Amino acid sequence: MAESTKTATLSFEGKTVDLPIRTPTAGPDVVDISKLYAQGGVFTHDPGYTSTSSCESKITFIDGDKGELLHRGYPIDQLAQKSHYLEVCYLLLYGDLPTAAELEDFESRVTNHTMVHEQMHNFFRGFRRDAHPMATLVGVVGAMSAFYHDSTDISDPWQREVASIRMIAKVPTIAAMAYKYSIGQPFVYPRNDIDYAANFLRMCFAVPAEDYEVDPIMARAMDRIFTLHADHEQNASTSTVRLASSSGANPFACIAAGIACLWGPAHGGANQACLEMLREIGTPDRIPEFIARAKDKDDPFRLMGFGHRVYKNFDPRAKVMKQSADEVLDLMGIHDNPTLQVAKELERIALEDEYFVDKKLYPNVDFYSGIILDAMGFPTSMFTPIFAVSRTVGWVSQWKEMISDPAMKIGRPRQLYTGHTRRDYVDVENR
Ligand code: ACO
Repeated sequence: MAESTKTATLSFEGKTVDLPIRTPTAGPDVVDISKLYAQGGVFTHDPGYTSTSSCESKITFIDGDKGELLHRGYPIDQLAQKSHYLEVCYLLLYGDLPTAAELEDFESRVTNHTMVHEQMHNFFRGFRRDAHPMATLVGVVGAMSAFYHDSTDISDPWQREVASIRMIAKVPTIAAMAYKYSIGQPFVYPRNDIDYAANFLRMCFAVPAEDYEVDPIMARAMDRIFTLHADHEQNASTSTVRLASSSGANPFACIAAGIACLWGPAHGGANQACLEMLREIGTPDRIPEFIARAKDKDDPFRLMGFGHRVYKNFDPRAKVMKQSADEVLDLMGIHDNPTLQVAKELERIALEDEYFVDKKLYPNVDFYSGIILDAMGFPTSMFTPIFAVSRTVGWVSQWKEMISDPAMKIGRPRQLYTGHTRRDYVDVENR
């Protein structure tokens, strides 16, 4: 990227500060304020980072107005239709699509790291059976930092590579174990002779008492869900991973921090919340009641699966996911799914409603993913863990990019302090 010669000038209280403007390969120009405090003695204030770029990245680009999502330049709809999850993982991690030999080598490395240390099984037994699988996932992925000591020296590129492969390979195993534990069934070990998505389904749904054949339609749908959630530039959980890692912390612990952030209903938890909402609506005739609630300023209710911080046109992942939902339900012979009927009608009504049109609130990826996962037999509590499995590669790719950047420094935001100014301590008897 050529250095820009453009500058922005900030004038206040008789001072003038020239701020360099950096021009990205795509997206709006960025005013570099990193020297603003040194030169002008002021901070900037942007809660929720709505106008702030927190890092330089070459991995994912989103054009929210156009509804475009590119991974290393490739549009998500092309990747979802023509590629598959592990190839997209390679693309995100290493920057280009792999050759056949590179892909084979990568798939074999991931496949050969899918088992977890046997001692880790004991962690699960410490959780209550009714714990949310996300709670178990956060805990057990965090616990990985107490194992695998040969891949935690983040200054060593080889150890970073091994840690990356381990996370992509083992998080699905841990998520499946969290599910099995929650339903009181024995853990199912991964198999090296089936692909990533099929392996995950098998670890979730097989039982030792009988043979289990993975349905290729289910495996393809699972792979597509993984692919569509693989990365999404500097979202809340990815920024959490970057901030946690910026102190040089243990990589496994940093991914656990990302999982914790993802859990919230405004982020990854929305897929569970959305399906629960669709079920609560129940029948299309109740939709107007829920639309009215979503529009009521005095009601905290929001239509789950609608709206996005960045997409103000449509979420390109939702388009592919909607197609997938139709395909999967059709192929599984489910034609009168009431939840899908409610979803379709809700989408139609909301997209014509002035409130949603004016605020540019469109269905996001989570609007349809829950319907597919439900049809596959997953309980709603597994929806967000599945999102975490998919997003692990995004977190890891962004982490690797940050750690290998020589300009990396600890993330340390400033604040607009509005508390008390200095005051003297008063002894308890005088208060
Ligand atoms: N239903 C009803 N109103 C909504 C919704 C919604 N789903 N989303 C936003 N709005 C309204 C807000 O009330 C606000 O109205 P106002 O301007 O009159 O106050 C306006 O639209 C803007 O909303 P913000 O919360 O400021 O938008 P922000 O960009 O901060 O939030 C978010 C984005 C969190 C995704 C929000 O749209 C939301 O809560 N959606 C529901 C949860 C959801 O589906 N999350 C999944 C996100 S995608 C993902 O993580 C994969």
